[in-house]
Amino acid sequence: MRAVLVGPPGAGKGTQAQILASEMSIPKVSTGDIFRANVSGGTELGKQAKSYMDRGDLVPDEVTNAMVRDRLAESDALSGFLLDGFPRNVAQAETLDKMLGDMGKRLDVVLELKVDEEEVVKRLSGRRICRDCGRAQHVDYDPPKVAGVCDTCGGELFQREDDREETIRHRLDVYHEQTAPLVAFYSEAGLLATIDATGAVEDVTERALTALRAT
Ligand code: AP5
Ligand code: ZN
Repeated sequence: MRAVLVGPPGAGKGTQAQILASEMSIPKVSTGDIFRANVSGGTELGKQAKSYMDRGDLVPDEVTNAMVRDRLAESDALSGFLLDGFPRNVAQAETLDKMLGDMGKRLDVVLELKVDEEEVVKRLSGRRICRDCGRAQHVDYDPPKVAGVCDTCGGELFQREDDREETIRHRLDVYHEQTAPLVAFYSEAGLLATIDATGAVEDVTERALTALRAT
């Protein structure tokens, strides 16, 4: 299956992508995670992306598209993938169509995670990430057993640079201006499935799997 997750920052794309990719035995391709790994590794790509990410702006399309093209050409992604965080605007969606078309492939489904704005602000401002395994916990919704320590691996939890209140607001503006139009784009293409992404993580996963299996 070739699937895309779309939704505002904090909708739970990363949380669900991890679970769904493992349930469906396909690789998760998260552009945000790839950029963050490059920033921490101090690579050239990381240097190009960092200032955009810290401000909550999109990294330029040329940089992002080239990175995704390389990742989707890797052997584990040839028979299927779950994209998290890409495409992020209509130009990226058109590039993805072309990339897949060149390989004789096409998308099967775009799953929209719907959550209201008040809830995403709560989710993002309370999110803490593990420095070692990358797990996202939440100070209220998924509180670590020991403050500041990851429940999975004991690593240190930290707050993402772009999860500060004013940057969250800017990321939401960027979402509305640039990413939300993808919902109409994919709906017209007959690829869109929308689920309610509020409630417990397991319930959202159940709704997502039902929608994905129906395609
Ligand atoms: P990216 O990493 O993609 O960030 P995002 O889209 O803003 O999404 P988030 O990671 O913030 O949220 P999420 O939906 O994954 O939520 P999560 O599961 O963590 O991108 C970051 C930056 O990289 C961009 O700003 C841009 O600069 C750059 N970039 C990336 N892709 C790009 C592209 N294609 N083009 C250009 N630039 C790009 O959940 C959030 C919190 O809520 C967590 O604490 C979690 O524990 C909690 N939670 C999750 N589900 C639930 C639930 N059901 N109930 C309660 N709490 C929950
Ligand atoms: Zn961890």
